[in-house]
Formats: sequence, C-alpha cells, structure tokens
Amino acid sequence: MPIEMTMTVGEIAVEFPAAIQVFEDLKIDYCCGGDRSLKDACALAGVSVEKVAESMEKRKPQTPSGDRESDWRQKSMTELTNYILEKHHLFTRAILGRLKELSVKVARVHGARHPELMRVEALVADMAGEMEGHMAKEEEQVFPYLTAVEKSGGKEGVPNPFQGGPLDNHPLKVLMWEHGMTGEEFLELRRLTRDFTVPEDACQSYRSLYLGLIELEEDLHRHVHLENNVLFRKAVEQGILD
Ligand SMILES: [Fe+2]
Ligand SMILES: [Fe+2]
Repeated sequence: MPIEMTMTVGEIAVEFPAAIQVFEDLKIDYCCGGDRSLKDACALAGVSVEKVAESMEKRKPQTPSGDRESDWRQKSMTELTNYILEKHHLFTRAILGRLKELSVKVARVHGARHPELMRVEALVADMAGEMEGHMAKEEEQVFPYLTAVEKSGGKEGVPNPFQGGPLDNHPLKVLMWEHGMTGEEFLELRRLTRDFTVPEDACQSYRSLYLGLIELEEDLHRHVHLENNVLFRKAVEQGILD
C-alpha cells in the first residue's frame, strides 16, 4: 500500500517504520503531532511533501512491514508495555540523571559567558521531575491496567485504578498532554541553544550535555510514538480507555 496524502504522519510512522528516520532527519513531528496529515506536518516543519517522498524513496524498503518483528500493531499490549519499559523508561531515567549532573556543572563553569545555560539547567531539572512523575503514572497505573484488561479479555472484573486520582476520567488525555509539555520544553531548549550548537570554547562536558539532550529528544520521539500512535490507539480502538 503506497503512502496516501490522507494518512496522518502517526499512521505513516506505524505503517512504514522506515519513515521514522526520515521524519527525524527532516524534523517532522510524528509523535505528539501524529494526528496531522502529512501535508500539514510538512508545512509546519517547512519541508515539501516531495522532499519527504524523495527521502522515503532512498530508504528502502518502504513497503508496509509484513514482518511481525517491526510491526508494532501486531504486538499485544503486554509486549508493547514491556518493550517501552525496558527500552525507553530505563534509558530515560539513566540519561536524565546524567544530564541533570552535567547541566549543573556546565552552567556553573560556563554560565557567565553563556547565560542561557542557567535556563537549560532549570529546564533539565524540570523535565527530570516531570518525566519521573509521568513514567510512574504509566508504570503504576496505566500499563498494569491495560495488560490486566488484555489478560482477562475485558474490563469486567478489573478494578479501575484511576478514580479519584490524577488520572481520573481521561488517563490518556493527561498522559498525551504531558507528552506535549515535554515536546514544548525541547522546543525551548532548541531555541536557547540554537539547535544544540556548542560554542567554540565548549569543554567536553558541554558537548556531552548537548549530545545527550539530542539523544534523549530522539529517544522520546520514538517512545511517545509507540505510546500515542500504537499503544494508546489500541486501547481506544478496543474500548478500554477513551
Ligand atoms: Fe512512557
Ligand atoms: Fe508517556
């Protein structure tokens, strides 16, 4: 099935996993903005649809993934959540711990000449706290609920863990809003640091901080894509959450 202009970028990323790297390279938002059409997402990123098509053409195979390994839609929610926890949550915690230390050190040493580093330090600290709270909601409430409902074959008999808590009513909306908030923080980081460009007088820690932030940003795109466009979509389609 070829890519159709009516498909959203989130759908394209699910259907054609090779598109993910193209979207990353061209800075097209396919995770938090996964519901946009390819045309709208390209317009927002200042890239032509033709450029995307051309980049996709270079990245074979671009046929829909027939193989179960890379087709996330074929995975159970248990497999998906296990993968997200092992691949993305562990990495996010580890790298944020490192980035927090680096951002404090780099702001202390270079903050006088590069005052934006004070704001970078504050944003990294905020993100680390927010991401910890966010992942705890997923790990303690949402993922166990989804896998419990999947195992029992329906919602009946599975206690709703969200009532009266921060995820009451619309857990997925809260989580997706939080994904968007982190995305906004990364936009601010990019503005502050001129897309993570290190100055000439940067030391190794300075470089490691910016490289680590780029690494975390790309990992978060893939992480949020799997949650928003695959796992949460599956939960909505199966009528488990709305
Ligand atoms: Fe997550
Ligand atoms: Fe999440």
